[in-house]
Amino acid sequence: MAEAPSDSNAGAPVFAVDAVSYSYREAEALAGVSLTIESGERVVLLGANGSGKSTLLKMLDGLIFPDTGRIHAMGRELTKDALGDDGFSREFRRRVGFVFQNSEAQLFSPSVREEIAFGPLHLGLPLEEVERRVEDTLHIMGLEQLAERAPYNLSGGEKKKVALASVLAISPDVFLFDEPTAGLDPKTQSFLERLILDLSEAGKTIITATQDLRLAAETADRVIVLGEDHRLAGTGPAAEILDDRGLLLRSNLIHDHAHRHEERGLEHEHPHSHLADHGHEHGEGSREN
Ligand SMILES: Nc1ncnc2c1ncn2[C@@H]1O[C@H](COP(=O)(O)OP(=O)(O)OP(=O)(O)O)[C@@H](O)[C@H]1O
Ligand SMILES: [Mg+2]
Repeated sequence: MAEAPSDSNAGAPVFAVDAVSYSYREAEALAGVSLTIESGERVVLLGANGSGKSTLLKMLDGLIFPDTGRIHAMGRELTKDALGDDGFSREFRRRVGFVFQNSEAQLFSPSVREEIAFGPLHLGLPLEEVERRVEDTLHIMGLEQLAERAPYNLSGGEKKKVALASVLAISPDVFLFDEPTAGLDPKTQSFLERLILDLSEAGKTIITATQDLRLAAETADRVIVLGEDHRLAGTGPAAEILDDRGLLLRSNLIHDHAHRHEERGLEHEHPHSHLADHGHEHGEGSREN
C-alpha cells in the first residue's frame, strides 16, 4: 500500500544496518554486518573483546560512519551530511541516547547537577521542566548526595551512574547502553536491570552491548552475537541464543569448562573463564592446582 510522503518514515525500523563494514586505521572492526532493530525491542549485543560492539553502537549513534554499506535510522540514511542538517540532528539527538562504555569520555560539566541538566537544556526545554527532570533523575539514580560534586572526582561506578543519569534526563526513545553494568556493585547492577525493564515497559527501544550473559538473560528479548571475525555470528530470541553453547563458545563468550562448586553447596554447572586457580572440585572429579 502506498504511503503519503509525510508518513513514509512512520513504520520504518529504528535502525536498518545493511552490509556495513568499518575499519580503524590499523584494525578491522565490523565486516559485512546487517541487522534490523524494530521500535520497542530490547536487544542485547554480545561479543568478545574487540569484536566490534562499541564500534557498532557508535555507528548507530551517528558518531562514525560505515566505510561500505549503509545505516538507516528511523527511515533516513545516517550520513555525515544528514547529521549536518540541524533539524535532523536535533531530532536524532532527542530520540537516541548513548551511554558510553567509558564514562570519562561522556562527562564534562563542573557539577553532577549541571551534567544532568545539559541535555534537557540543549533540547531547549523550559527551565522549570529542566529543573524537574534534573530533580527526578537525581532521585531515580540515588544521586542527590552527589549533586554538587564534580563528576571527574567521582568513583568509576559513580561516574557511570552520572553518565546514565545524563542520558535518562533527555528521555530518548532509543537507548544505546555500552557495557552499562561494568564496574557497578551488585545492588546497582540489579537496579540497572530493573531500570532497563522499566524503560522497555514504557515503550523505549533498548540496545545493550555487553559480555555479561547474566545481563543478557535478564534484559534481552533478542540477542545478536558478533563474532571475533567482526561478522554477525548469530541472532535470535534470547533464550535460544543463550542456550546455544556452540555459538557462545565459538564467539568466545564462554569457556568450555563446566564445573561444579560442590564444596560451596552450589549444585549448578556453568561455563567460566580461568583467570586464576580455583582450588575446588570439578565435575569430572579432578582437582585443579
Ligand atoms: N579508536 C580506535 N582506533 C583504532 N582501533 C580501534 C579503535 N576503537 C576500536 N578499535 C579496534 O576495533 C576493533 C573493535 O573494537 P570495539 O571497541 O568496537 O570492540 P568491543 O566489542 O566493543 O570490545 P570490548 O568488549 O573490549 O569493549 C578492535 O580490534 C579494536 O582494537
Ligand atoms: Mg566495547
